[in-house]
Amino acid sequence: MHQPDRVMLREVAPRDGLQNEPPVPTGDKIRLIDALSRTGLSRIEAVSFVSPKAVPQMADAAEVWAAVEKHSGISYSALAPNRKGVERALDAGFTAVEVVVSASETHNRANIGRSVAESLAELPDICALARERLASVEVIIATSFGCPFEGDIAPAQVARIVAAAEAAGAGRVAFGDTTGMGTPRRVTDLLDAVQAGTDLPMLMHFHDTRGTALANLLTALDRGVVEFDASVGGIGGCPFAPGASGNVATEEVVHMLHDMGVETGVDLDALIRTAGLAQEIVGRPLESGVLRAGPRTSLSPRP
Ligand code: COA
Ligand code: ZN
Repeated sequence: MHQPDRVMLREVAPRDGLQNEPPVPTGDKIRLIDALSRTGLSRIEAVSFVSPKAVPQMADAAEVWAAVEKHSGISYSALAPNRKGVERALDAGFTAVEVVVSASETHNRANIGRSVAESLAELPDICALARERLASVEVIIATSFGCPFEGDIAPAQVARIVAAAEAAGAGRVAFGDTTGMGTPRRVTDLLDAVQAGTDLPMLMHFHDTRGTALANLLTALDRGVVEFDASVGGIGGCPFAPGASGNVATEEVVHMLHDMGVETGVDLDALIRTAGLAQEIVGRPLESGVLRAGPRTSLSPRP
């Protein structure tokens, strides 16, 4: 198996995680982001700038961002569904934005109220605006591995969106497995369809809805992908996709990669403590195995 020396992880619990929980106080969001900033993570998706009617959980995005500690070695980003969201993110001071569009027509309508073509038509203008403001744009392609309404999504459809993102001037593409429909076979099929056609850096965003997230990650790693999203405690999900559940847990990814000799820059103990904080904030037991059991080297007293 091909194995890189280092993998770049982006933490998405403050956005993907908290958008899918009953609203938590602004102060808790700030505490979570500040704790994540002290774990060695180099990327954190902090908030999204979306309609407060659609996602009340993110209504305080600008307030959260104004208050968090900004560490110089960390790239903080914000997700946006449209030009208005990108403008709000840039005005708030973000220099990295992620624009989300779904590969599935039905999910794009459910999530952001318009067609895929309408989303793509706005991209060149968004990229030009970001360039003027010295910010980078990543296009996140949701439902890349399947749609809860439409079923399988043709990898060629995803490749078409990658081409549109590249033509528009985006600097990176991310493939979102919004409802955990990905499997190693689907990851391989997708990469077969997109890898030859673009020079853009690629990131994968796996949900562990059906227990395949780590297998998917290893499959992508073997194919040369070195950037992944993950969420402490495994919280996460899309409010506009039935059956969506948690992201792959960051501490599970770090735990596995470090044991394989793949560096992440993250302090696993600090990360597990932060997953505990996330659990306290959302107020329910989280499913992450590494949070519950600790690292594989944590021993019990001998009987
Ligand atoms: N942030 C805040 N408000 C926004 C906005 C944004 N990015 N984009 C649009 N709005 C406002 C409009 O100004 C308008 O406000 P008004 O009612 O006061 O005039 C209102 O929202 C409706 O605008 P419209 O263009 O008709 O959008 P819509 O109602 O069809 O909603 C989205 C479209 C994209 C704004 C909404 O579906 C959304 O925010 N989706 C995000 C979903 C999400 O976060 N999913 C999970 C992450 S992938
Ligand atoms: Zn997600």
